[in-house]
Amino acid sequence: MVSRVIPVEDFDLVIFGATGDLAHRKILPGLFRRFVAGQIPETSRIIGAARTEQDDEAFRAEAARAIVEFAGVKKNDPRLAQFVELLGYTAIDARGEGGWNELKGRMREGAVHAFYFSVAPALFGDIAERLAGHGIADAQSRIVVEKPFGRDLASARALNAMLAQHFDEHQIYRIDHYLGKETVQNLMAVRFANVLFEPLWNAQYVDHVQITVAETVGVAGRGSYYDKSGAIRDMVQNHMMQLLCLIAMEPPYHFDPDAVRDEKLKVIRALEPLEPGDIVRGQYQADGKEPGYLEAAENPDSRTESYVAMKVRISNWRWQGTPFYLRTGKKLRARTSEIAITFKEPPHSIFDDTGAPKANELVIRLQPNEGMNLKVMIKEPGPGGMRLVQVPLDMSFADALGAEGADMPDAYERLIMDVIRGNQTLFMRGDEVEAAWAWTDPIINAWEDSKRRPEPYDPGSSGPEEALRLMHRDNRRWREIRS
Ligand code: BG6
Repeated sequence: MVSRVIPVEDFDLVIFGATGDLAHRKILPGLFRRFVAGQIPETSRIIGAARTEQDDEAFRAEAARAIVEFAGVKKNDPRLAQFVELLGYTAIDARGEGGWNELKGRMREGAVHAFYFSVAPALFGDIAERLAGHGIADAQSRIVVEKPFGRDLASARALNAMLAQHFDEHQIYRIDHYLGKETVQNLMAVRFANVLFEPLWNAQYVDHVQITVAETVGVAGRGSYYDKSGAIRDMVQNHMMQLLCLIAMEPPYHFDPDAVRDEKLKVIRALEPLEPGDIVRGQYQADGKEPGYLEAAENPDSRTESYVAMKVRISNWRWQGTPFYLRTGKKLRARTSEIAITFKEPPHSIFDDTGAPKANELVIRLQPNEGMNLKVMIKEPGPGGMRLVQVPLDMSFADALGAEGADMPDAYERLIMDVIRGNQTLFMRGDEVEAAWAWTDPIINAWEDSKRRPEPYDPGSSGPEEALRLMHRDNRRWREIRS
């Protein structure tokens, strides 16, 4: 398969927070890989901006170290030396005046200008104001903002309103890195580029949907952030909600930013409020070797959930009566993200001597081992009657696509290139983020008003027992968590 790398336009990208963790782990390595792939013009400039006083050379050395560590490239790789030539650095005081004129002097006329806010949300306003005030950003510039985008509806609205003072919606790229994952985009390809699935993709044929994002890591190292957030704010309001939307939405009329986002928004607006019995929260315990959640978060009284499972209903014609079960958690048995669509059983079995056919199931594995698995019924070979057996039609994208499939770009690579291309399809619109908070706010508030504690679960398990009951009472079972 021939790789189709289309170079983007010449650009100046400013990374605020360039000395931070996200820049080191994701943004700089992602840009490096796109450079190596030939997508970034050699005239482009990447300007680090942060509080640390340092010069271009020191930042280049810092970036090279990060890229060696996180992109798995050798220190003496000649492409690394070429890439860091694109980098420059300006020390910036986000809340003062230092550095802004210098930054303005670095921006080239005629290039696409993008500003990546890889900083705490509390600084978004200061940076936006100074970019506009110093005439550094104009009506053609783009800004990229990271999650968390607010911590409730009120704060998300305030953030949107503040950004709107300086930028139009078409200039604002709100990142949800799940949308940049190759297999997440594949959800749209599977649904809307095949005729096989879509006619069955509704409550008449789908019994239920399970969306699982399981992680093996705990919260150690970021406990103070996580403890104020919890799984609902950290994962459900954004990543899980996006997955749910892509599975449940109507076909957009075109693969166009607003057409796609309009359809996602309709799904979020059709979510029914959760009933108290439809949600289970969990907190992982210590396991003798590693601390439990409470120690990791350094908050012995914390009621913050490191696991959540919920039964979600979508009130519209397509999905009335088909529940979507969502679960996500830290310190679980395996790292895996998948979506499983369980179809209904055939309405009538003609094979009366060998048991009823089992329901078909389509599993889309998002990570790791990206691929698809469709369970179908066939006849067991041999004489002795019509014995039925369910077998998987299993496809690994890596195997199916050869070398290109094995080399899945990281979500950030794709998303940053989309910013330069000016394509907002895989970014969240302001109204989408607000609608997602409008649905999660009452869930969070009801918990804060209650005196309940999360259910304990063992690290390396599948989550709390209580979550199993959420399914059992509907005569259903969670799929096993395994990678
Ligand atoms: C982040 C969350 O947005 O997504 C983290 O803040 C989580 O808590 C991470 O670990 C998961 O992302 P991925 O790409 O590893 O599935």
